[in-house]
Amino acid sequence: MEIKVVENFDMLSREAAKIFYEVIKKKPDCVLGLATGETPVGLYDCLAGAYERGELDFSRVRTVNLDEYYPISPSDPQSYRYFMNTKLFDRVNIDKSNTHIPDGLSADVDKSCEEYDMLIDRLGGVDVQVLGIGRNGHIGFNEPSDTLQLCTHLTDLTEDTVNANARFFDDESSVPRKAITMGLGGIFKARKIVILASGDKKREAVAKLRSNKLDTQTPASLLQLHPDVILICDRDAYGED
Ligand code: PGA
Repeated sequence: MEIKVVENFDMLSREAAKIFYEVIKKKPDCVLGLATGETPVGLYDCLAGAYERGELDFSRVRTVNLDEYYPISPSDPQSYRYFMNTKLFDRVNIDKSNTHIPDGLSADVDKSCEEYDMLIDRLGGVDVQVLGIGRNGHIGFNEPSDTLQLCTHLTDLTEDTVNANARFFDDESSVPRKAITMGLGGIFKARKIVILASGDKKREAVAKLRSNKLDTQTPASLLQLHPDVILICDRDAYGED
């Protein structure tokens, strides 16, 4: 795993954007693996800026997102569909029908999870996947556990994740307790993975991510097995050498 330590969040966002920029330039119909949360927002700002300056064209780009709350309507401002529309898709010339997010309203969750994995395969797989990391070491919503899932699935969110997500809600009782997430197998199929971490709240998770140990209680630690991963983090997240 390559590790790049930068001074602050802006630099982290710009470093991540350079990688995405190259992928989109080289392969105009690439498949981007996208994530929600605070950390990738700076990356999305950089990509939207590049589009505004006429440097990037999203007209043929396809996207798949890692996860979505369940149950939730795509028009709910707390949904990840809403998040992606406002933070990126509405700011660039992407065709929304080429953007894919797990169905937060599915009546048959098992079937729609299976279809989501088939869809990613049909698109030809993810060229570059951005990931945040949870304070508890989760990636997507693959929460710490004795066993981890390979495929897209419905999962219960841990108390720690519910607490972390509460900052986006008016009160904690309205924070969703379940989500649909790509599994570790799906994430690992991405040809390249860019994992971003900012701030000292992520320091413990980052230390475990680069520990040379694999631990299903820190799902991100398994990324050490992937052949093409870069961790971009700021000083606060990296801590001391
Ligand atoms: P954050 O979330 O970017 O909002 O810190 C990351 C995550 O939980 O995966």
